[in-house]
Order: sequence, then C-alpha cells, then structure tokens
Amino acid sequence: MTDAANRPPAEGDDRFILTNRQGHQVYDNQNQRTVGPRGPATLENYQFLEKISHFDRERIPERVVHARGFVSFGTFEATGKWGDEPISQYTRAKLFQEAGKKTDVAVRFSTVIGGHDSSEAARDPRGFAVKFYTEDGNWDLVGNNLAVFFIRDAIKFPDVIHALKPDPITFRQEPARIFDFMSQTPECMHMLVNLFSPRGIPADYRHMQGFGVNTYKWCNKTGDTVLVKYTWQPHQGVKSLTEADAANIQANDTGHASKDLFEAIERSDFPKWDLYVQMMSDDEHPELDWDPLDDTKTWPEQDFEPQLVGTMTLNENVSDHHNENEQIAFGTGVLVDGLDFSDDKMLVGRTFSYSDTQRYRVGPNYLQLPVNSPRRVQVATNQTGGQMSYGRDLGVGQNPHVNYEPSITGGLREGHYQTEDIEGPELTGRLTRARIPRTNDYEQAGQRYQLLEDWEQDDLVTNFTTLIAQADRKVQERMLWHFYMADDDLGSRVGEGLGISLEDVKDLGPLQSQTLTDVEVSRMKNLG
Ligand code: HEM
Repeated sequence: MTDAANRPPAEGDDRFILTNRQGHQVYDNQNQRTVGPRGPATLENYQFLEKISHFDRERIPERVVHARGFVSFGTFEATGKWGDEPISQYTRAKLFQEAGKKTDVAVRFSTVIGGHDSSEAARDPRGFAVKFYTEDGNWDLVGNNLAVFFIRDAIKFPDVIHALKPDPITFRQEPARIFDFMSQTPECMHMLVNLFSPRGIPADYRHMQGFGVNTYKWCNKTGDTVLVKYTWQPHQGVKSLTEADAANIQANDTGHASKDLFEAIERSDFPKWDLYVQMMSDDEHPELDWDPLDDTKTWPEQDFEPQLVGTMTLNENVSDHHNENEQIAFGTGVLVDGLDFSDDKMLVGRTFSYSDTQRYRVGPNYLQLPVNSPRRVQVATNQTGGQMSYGRDLGVGQNPHVNYEPSITGGLREGHYQTEDIEGPELTGRLTRARIPRTNDYEQAGQRYQLLEDWEQDDLVTNFTTLIAQADRKVQERMLWHFYMADDDLGSRVGEGLGISLEDVKDLGPLQSQTLTDVEVSRMKNLG
C-alpha cells in the first residue's frame, strides 16, 4: 500500500499527513478554493466537495428499534458439557464441544424504543445480542434482559412497537396509547409485570441477565433434536433502578450504561456472563398448560433445570462507534450447524425482519463489513455486485470467470455434509390463521408478581397506577380486569390507586379475541 498517508512524514513531525480519499495530500484544510480571499468559491474544488459531501452522508438510518446501543468484544469459553453429560449427546455445534474451547464474540447491549441518542436509564427492555465468530461461520443469539416478550406472533410486532414509540403527532411516548394497546393484548401481562417493576430499568449493562427468549433446537450427529432456551447470568450480579434513581441518573447523563461498560473494560475489570441452557424433548408437550414455543412464557427452572455450557468474557472495547456499533448486524436466522429454529411463530417473523432491515439500513453488502463477516471461515459465494460491493468472495484457486454453480471449469462446489434428510420434521396441518390453543396469559404473570420483593412490588404498583391513570377509563378498567386475573393483590392495589373497585370490573368478561383456559375460566368466576 503506497497511499500518501504512508509517505515519510515531514522532518521532525512523525504524524501522518492528511489526505483525501483519493490519496491526494491536503495542503490547506482551513480555506476552500476561492477567487480571491473573499470569494466566490469555485465548484471544481474537489478536496472541499469530497469532505463536505461525505460529511452530508455520515449517518445511516438508525435501527427502527434498539437504536441506542453499545458494542464490546470478547471470548466465549465452552464447558463441553450439558450437566454431567458430554454436550455432543445433544448438539454437534462445534463451538460447544470441548471444555476450554474459545470462540470470539461481539456483543451489543441496547435499549429498544428511544432514538440513537436517547437515555440509557429509560424504562425499556434491554437488548442482549451476541455474535459468535465460530469456525463454522457466525451464530447470533439475539435476546433481551427480561426473559419473555409482549407478543407471541410476529404479525403483531409493528403494532406493539407503534404503541410504545412516540405518538405520530405529538411525538411523545404516551402511556395512554401504550396501555390502550396492552389492554387488548392479554399475552403481554407477563412482560408488563417485568417491565414496570425495577427490572425494567437495569442499573447498567454489566448488571443484567440475558435471555434468548425464543425457543430454538439443538441437533446432534445422528439428527436427534431437542428444544432449548438460553440464559446469560452475570458474574457481576443483577442490579436494577427505581424510577427515582433513574431520573437522577438521566438528569446528568443519558449514556451512563455505555460509559460504565467502556470504563470497566478500559481498567481491565472484564465483565463475565455464564451461559445456561434449558432443554426439553422436541414435541408439543401436551402435559404442560402452556406451549413450549410461546415466548411470553418462561420454562420453570425446577422442571427444566438450566445447565452451564460456557462463560463469556468481554475484554475489548470498540475502535470505532460507527463501523462496529451502527453497522453491526445481528439476526435470528444466523445459526450454525447443530443449532436450529423451532416453529415458534415469533422466530420465523424475526428471522425475515432482521436481514430485511439490514439490507435497507446498512446496504445489500452489509455482510462484507469486517464486523459482520465471519472471522474464521473463508466466505466463498457467487454473489456479485450491489451497492458498496467490496471485492469478490472467491474461493482459493477459483476460476474468476465462473460466478455460477454448477460448473466443471473451476467454480465453487456444494458441500456434502447434509443431515436435513434425517432430522427434518414431518409437517402436516391445515393452513390457518389461529391462536395457539394453550395461551395461559395470566398464570406466569401472577407468579412473577408474587416472586418480587416487597419494594419491587411497591414500585410496580406505583408505576402502573401513575401511568395507567393517564389512559381512558375503559382502558383502566380493562387493565384492572387483567391484573385481577393474574393476581388478587396486584388487582386490588392498582385498583385502589386508580379509584376503581373489583365490583366495577368483574363482569367485563374476556375480550372477544381471547380464549380462556379452564383454569382461567374458573379464576374469572371466582373474582371477588
Ligand atoms: C433489533 C425486529 C422481536 C431483540 C431489531 C431490529 C428489527 C427487529 C427490525 C433492528 C435490527 C437492525 O436494524 O439491525 C423484530 C421483530 C420481532 C422482534 C419483527 C418480533 C416478531 C424481538 C425479541 C427480542 C428482540 C422477542 C428479544 C428476544 C432484539 C435485539 C435487537 C433487535 C437485541 C438489537 C440488535 C442489535 O443490537 O443490533 N428487532 N424484533 N427482538 N431485536 Fe428484535
């Protein structure tokens, strides 16, 4: 490389000389070219035009959700086991196989609703996205800190996000709009009990858990599959903020969580998380009164014991925010051999949405960027062209004229390790639009409330009461009905705050869109 910046520096000054992107040295970076010192300016002024027009394009569209986030890099080290058994019994994914095996990772923590410069002390789920640069290509585990989600069908995602984002006219986040939508969406109750408790404002990124949330599969060498869920547990412990703590922090600093993470890594206080996996057999589990593919549910730990499969250490900060944070791209479709999708209806929608938005947000060749391309595999594709294409993905020794397959004159060939024929499930069923039968929207929401400590329950009730009071009376009543269905104490305390009694709401009955389970029907009958 012989660009101008690499030429010997001026005598006595070892800094590189400024150039433009054509490699031309810049002799004057203070004055543009003009006719005489007072102007007018000339249009052939390449140096000025390149500088200003690049500046005009410095921003790419921010993420439609999770716009504010922060990236760090590190390593994942496997245990080689699931419980006492070799992990190979359940998955052939190479990164998990041997104890001590290390894989590079990039992690992006984020908030969801606010824009790119919004507060990191907001009440909001936190994103917890991990990219593993494995020897079989990349694996992305794109999760959150709250274990569950608002909805269970991807078709509702734009609606839930519109309700949570600012009003399209006033551009303010409006509790009345949020609870209007939530009151008609009973599956969100579990998520709401988490989000409006102190867990909804983690103290910072180092002190929070992470969850894969959706259900995935593992496949072993003989094609046997199991259903799995992932959880990250921080060695630093879990810490949360009350509304008042958060208000104090964001009065002075809207980026306290990124700062905390960056500074911890700078002083070599490297944060760590253990990765646990819960497992169940790959079937419908009719014995459960909830569906294993429903992302509004957690799997009870006493029945599905989480087992340690590895530890992640973050030990390197980003070198450039734009290149590594704004342009990093995660997606639920990015899996490696031995890891697979389940039929979870959110997962399939997510898998389309991530790469779709990234082709628009970053560009069609986003996978050529260093932070997104695999680190340990030579990419070899026949994809060519597109905006910002950078080089060709040629295999070593490939005939450069052959960008198609099959060919007998030197093109790329297919791999041969295929197991889909032995492990692909047989699918039958009527094409339909229907809710899953086992919705069970309230039980885990109620249990979650009961598990909160007293101060957390107090904070939750205050938050619900203050915010729901801003919604229409009909919305307040419907929210109260849902809370009573989840837990009597939650219902009566929020009702007291809103000045609405059980008598006012108990005859509301289920929403038209709702099918209650037998347990829920008897709970409804017993209200009061
Ligand atoms: C980011 C869609 C559900 C976690 C995003 C982005 C989209 C999206 C379009 C922006 C991606 C980008 O610009 O690079 C969806 C859809 C969902 C869904 C359609 C439901 C159907 C979820 C759930 C979780 C989640 C359930 C948590 C388990 C994340 C995270 C990011 C993200 C962590 C940020 C990734 C990053 O840091 O770049 N989502 N999402 N999403 N989503 Fe989702």
